Amino acid sequence: MSADDAWVRALDARQRAMLAEMGIKVWLPKPVAAEPAPAPTQAVDNAPPARPAHAPVRPMATPLAAPMAPPTAQPAPARNAPARGDVAQLDWPALREAVAQCRACGLCESRRNTVFGVGHTQADWMIVGEAPGEQEDRQGEPFVGAAGQLLDAMLRACHRSRTANDASGVFIANVLKCRPPANRNPTPEEVLQCEPFLARQVALVQPKLIIAMGRFAVQALLKTNEPIGRLRGRVHHYEGVPVIVTYHPAYLLRTPTDKGKAWADLCLAMSQ
Ligand code: URA
Repeated sequence: MSADDAWVRALDARQRAMLAEMGIKVWLPKPVAAEPAPAPTQAVDNAPPARPAHAPVRPMATPLAAPMAPPTAQPAPARNAPARGDVAQLDWPALREAVAQCRACGLCESRRNTVFGVGHTQADWMIVGEAPGEQEDRQGEPFVGAAGQLLDAMLRACHRSRTANDASGVFIANVLKCRPPANRNPTPEEVLQCEPFLARQVALVQPKLIIAMGRFAVQALLKTNEPIGRLRGRVHHYEGVPVIVTYHPAYLLRTPTDKGKAWADLCLAMSQ
């Protein structure tokens, strides 16, 4: 086993169970005596945990515009971008409303709901993803599809959750608040238009740590085109807040062999 894999040797039974939650299989080197495998605490593909009655910030689905336009309907409202300086002054309710009403780019035409963010508004950890997918667009909440279930498992492995309203809470937000049609990549213009919202969310949460998941989160926060592989493993900064870079859960679902690297990134996050 290489020095890079030394962390594997140091795992105790509880940590192995956590890794099992993330779907990571850990093989021990031959000479190590076999331990009875701990029962995984929960399968990765279990349904997400039930929300407690006192759940923290819940996403508010933004209803679609009027269901049927009468023949005499006015043309669709003009595009409008909230001024950056104005967004930087908003409190939580005003920011949520500004996102819900945003018509700054073409995504407002095709979205079902804006996806503001979810979690503890004073969390130590902020998770930044890319953009809503189909399920998120339907439900108005980030990371509720398959990638979201993996994200929840990764958070559980770190003793954190999107529903906790205490020190184990997180706030989850995306770079884009609206779904790009057919889940295409965000355009630079869309990222630019949406950026003030994420910046204000970070300023309001004041996290101790941001975990940037995937290329678009990294590009938006760190203003770099360097690949994730070259950025992970060290601490970056966004507006003075430490940033850990890791792979996007959707990528990890396609490339499970990189889950071990994502776990190493989470260990780095936990060590901050
Ligand atoms: N991928 C993301 O980056 N964000 C979501 O909310 C869902 C999938």
